[in-house]
Amino acid sequence: MDSFNMENAQQMLDFAKANLLLVGIFALFFVGMIISKNVYDRLMHFTIFVAALGALNDFALAKAVQERYFNVRTLYKNSLSRLEKVDTFPTKAVVYADQIRNCEDIVLNEDAGFAILSCDPTRDFWNAVMDIRISPNGTGSLYLWSYATSPPSLRPITFSDFPAGTTDFHPLGIDYDAATSTLYAVDHARSGLRVDVFRLDPPTARASLLTTLADPTHLRTPNGVAALSPTELLVTNDHFFVSDERPWLALLETYLSLPLSWVTGVRLAPDDTSAAGGAGVKPAYGLAADGIPFANGIARLNATHVVVAACTRPGLYLYSLAEPAEPAPPKLVFERYVRTPVMVDNVSVDSAGKVLFSGHPDAAALVNVSKTNHAFDLDAKGEEGEKAREGRPRSGSWVGEWDPVEGTLRDLFVDDGTVYGSSSSAVRDVKRGLTLVVGLYERGVLMAETGA
Ligand SMILES: *[C@@H]1O[C@H](CO)[C@@H](O)[C@H](O)[C@H]1NC(C)=O
Ligand SMILES: *[C@@H]1O[C@H](CO)[C@@H](O)[C@H](O)[C@H]1NC(C)=O
Ligand SMILES: *[C@@H]1O[C@H](CO)[C@@H](O)[C@H](O)[C@H]1NC(C)=O
Ligand SMILES: *[C@@H]1O[C@H](CO)[C@@H](O)[C@H](O)[C@H]1NC(C)=O
Repeated sequence: MDSFNMENAQQMLDFAKANLLLVGIFALFFVGMIISKNVYDRLMHFTIFVAALGALNDFALAKAVQERYFNVRTLYKNSLSRLEKVDTFPTKAVVYADQIRNCEDIVLNEDAGFAILSCDPTRDFWNAVMDIRISPNGTGSLYLWSYATSPPSLRPITFSDFPAGTTDFHPLGIDYDAATSTLYAVDHARSGLRVDVFRLDPPTARASLLTTLADPTHLRTPNGVAALSPTELLVTNDHFFVSDERPWLALLETYLSLPLSWVTGVRLAPDDTSAAGGAGVKPAYGLAADGIPFANGIARLNATHVVVAACTRPGLYLYSLAEPAEPAPPKLVFERYVRTPVMVDNVSVDSAGKVLFSGHPDAAALVNVSKTNHAFDLDAKGEEGEKAREGRPRSGSWVGEWDPVEGTLRDLFVDDGTVYGSSSSAVRDVKRGLTLVVGLYERGVLMAETGA
């Protein structure tokens, strides 16, 4: 086991104790559920009671219980049947519903007026993060969407020097460094998790592979990526336990929101980013930050700060960038935690410095979608044995905004999936007044006019 896991031992112990207590709470809650209709009140009162008891003898334990209370409350309040819808978008439309689906990520180049999308329809049949393993076949794609031209164009990005791109490419988090046209894609290839680094030529939508980063320790469960400079990046690792190797422990890590995931700092040797490909050059890896439950999206806030989204604790983690000696990989210093009203999947920062966060209000609905989507004829191919796509399950969407200067939080779009579901990432073009949202298990992209 890695040394950084030991650093988390005390925290883990607190969480384990808290979770044991929770089991007790749930047992009582269950009894309460049988004898009373007003179960929500009962759960609240009992959790507070236990937290208070804990505070008497163990502050850390009380804190951990309090955290669990927020988790439970968030999950309860945001269940699809109780969800309060919000819509600040004056106009909106789902575009490209028949061309693309299951897009996890979107990055924006506001100056050039294009977005890059990371989509994988095969997620319906294979999702190692959520433990869906029906068929490993097929590949995902990246798209270049010139949304500001008239008419707009959506083109699949084609690859040169990247044979795996035609048979085994499953992009998740992506990031783009416009200054050097470098495109980073976390790739959940069946043959091994990795980060692919491309040089993109936007006019032709062609990308050539510069290098592939793979490391069983530092890039064990890569999910999101943020480029800091042409040679430095940060990669979130969403789990300590790999679901392929230890499915039960990975599930436990998710459901108990154990803070075992981390951010890896990568420094590429100059050769890695040269057109020559840099084969054989070893990038330097280091631990940038740890102690995060299910680290997912990551984005650079400004020259000095970075935000990380935790998928199983409702909030954002704000870090400042430490300045390590030149050859060392980038490092983060934890500054504060900002509680959000939803479990956050991804974050992006707009050109006005505001953080957009998107997430899944109802985890159970998302899990249901991930388990049942494959049974529907989503591409309307009329395939035998598949159900009509109109009946497909839905999960909710939540897009909010955090203003780090004012310290304010605002909901922009909260939906039960009727309009657009499973929001995993949102970006905003400030200049053109557009907000674009993609959904992990949704058809097309939600294109909306940004409201006041
Ligand atoms: C996946 O593709 C291989 C090779 O084309 C094929 O033999 C196999 O049956 C496919 N698996 C599924 C589950 O569709
Ligand atoms: C989240 O979005 C940011 C920027 O939009 C991107 O850099 C990152 O890779 C994304 N992460 C995930 C997990 O989708
Ligand atoms: C799960 O999805 C199926 C298929 O659409 C649907 O019939 C069912 O009601 C869903 N269950 C929950 C708990 O959302
Ligand atoms: C970056 O954002 C953080 C958080 O709002 C702030 O404290 C910091 O001063 C900002 N840095 C710069 C260089 O603007």
